[in-house]
Amino acid sequence: MSKLDLKSKRTWGALAVIALTAGALTTAFAWTEGWIGSRLTSAQLFSETPQPFPPGFRRAHGKGICIAGTFRPTDAAAPLSTARAFTEPNIPVVGRLAIAMGDPHGPDSASNVVSMALLLKTDDGQQWRMAMNNQPYFPTHNAQGFTVDMPKAMAPDPATGKPDPARVAAFLKQYPEAEKFLKWAAQAPQPGSFGGVEFDGINAFYLVAADGKRQAVRWSMRPQEPFVQLSQDQLQHVGHDYMFEDLRARLAQKPLHWDMVMQLAEPGDPVDDPSLPWPQERKQIVAGTLEVTQAVEQAEGACRDVNFDPTIVPTGIEISDDPILQARSGAYTHSFNRREREIGYGKATDAVGKPEVPSK
Ligand code: HEM
Repeated sequence: MSKLDLKSKRTWGALAVIALTAGALTTAFAWTEGWIGSRLTSAQLFSETPQPFPPGFRRAHGKGICIAGTFRPTDAAAPLSTARAFTEPNIPVVGRLAIAMGDPHGPDSASNVVSMALLLKTDDGQQWRMAMNNQPYFPTHNAQGFTVDMPKAMAPDPATGKPDPARVAAFLKQYPEAEKFLKWAAQAPQPGSFGGVEFDGINAFYLVAADGKRQAVRWSMRPQEPFVQLSQDQLQHVGHDYMFEDLRARLAQKPLHWDMVMQLAEPGDPVDDPSLPWPQERKQIVAGTLEVTQAVEQAEGACRDVNFDPTIVPTGIEISDDPILQARSGAYTHSFNRREREIGYGKATDAVGKPEVPSK
C-alpha cells in the first residue's frame, strides 16, 4: 500500500471532514482523557458546556430521517445463533438514515459519511439494535485515538486553515493503523443516494448457537440498488437536502432493500480491534434482507426517541470485548438522555432508550 499523500488536495479535504466530524463529537461532549478505556460515568463523559448545535438532536449524526420496514431472515444464520431474528419470518424494523455530521441543519454535501441505524423487535419480546456507517473500519484501535487525539491532530492551524503536517505525522506515528483509514477517506466517494450505500457494523459480535458454540462475526448491510456517486462538480450543484429528497422520491416508487451480510471470523482474527479488518476471503453468509418502505421526518417518527446503542443485542448474539462498543454505549446513552431531556420527556412517542446508569 502506498504512503498517505499529505500534499494532495483531496487528502486535506478528507482530513478537514474528519476533523469536523470527530471534532464536533469532542466539542459536544467535552471529552476528558481519563474516561477512555474504563467504564464510563456521566460525570467523566460530559461537562455542562453549552452544546454547539440546537438542543434536542443527536450529538453526532444529527441530520437524519426515520425509516420503517421489515427484516426477513434467510435460513443461513439460524444454525449459528438462537436469536429469534434468524427464524421469525417478518420482523418489524424502526430505523434511521443520517449524515455523519453534528449539525442537524447542515447541507447533505458536508460529509461523505452516512449511516444506517436499525432496531429489530422480535415476537419473543427481544430487541436487536445496531448503528452502522459507510466505513469499512474504525480509524484507531481505541476510543482515545478517535475522540481525542485525531481531532487534535486534524484541527486546522489558524495560520494556514489546514491541519499542521507535523501534528498529523505525530498522530500517525502513535496510531499507524490510522493511515489506511485516512487513505481510504481521501478517496471515498460522495454518495448521491442512501439507496446504494453499503453500511458496515465494524465492531465484532458473537453468534451463539443452541449448543453454546460462539462464532465471531462482523455484519454489513449490502444494498441491492447500485451505488450513486457524485462527482466534485455535481456536488457543487446539489440541493441542501438532496439525500433526503432522493430517499423520499425513491420510496414513493418502490421499497429499498439491503442484504445483511455476515463475515465469519476464523481463529486468530482480532475481535477486539475495529481498526483491523478481517481478510476478504473469510466466509460470508447472507443472514436476511431488510425492506425499507417508509421514511418519516425525525421530529415525528419513531426513531426520534430511540437510542441505537449497539450493545443492545438479543439472546443468541453477544457483544465482543471490543472496547469501542463500550465507549459507544456510554456515549449514545448520554446523548440520548440529554436530547430527550431537552425536548421534554413527556413528548416521547416510543421511548425505548436505555435508562441512564447513575454515576458512581
Ligand atoms: C468511540 C467511538 C464512537 C463514539 C464516541 C460515537 C458517538 C456517537 C454519538 C454520541 C452518537 C449520537 C447518539 C444518539 O444521540 O442517539 C452517535 C451516533 C451514531 N454513531 Fe457513533 N460513535 C462512535 C463510533 C461509531 C462507530 C464505530 C460507528 C459505526 C460502526 C458509529 C455509528 C453511528 C451511527 C450510525 C449513529 C447514528 C445513530 C442514530 O441514527 O441514532 N459510531 N455516535
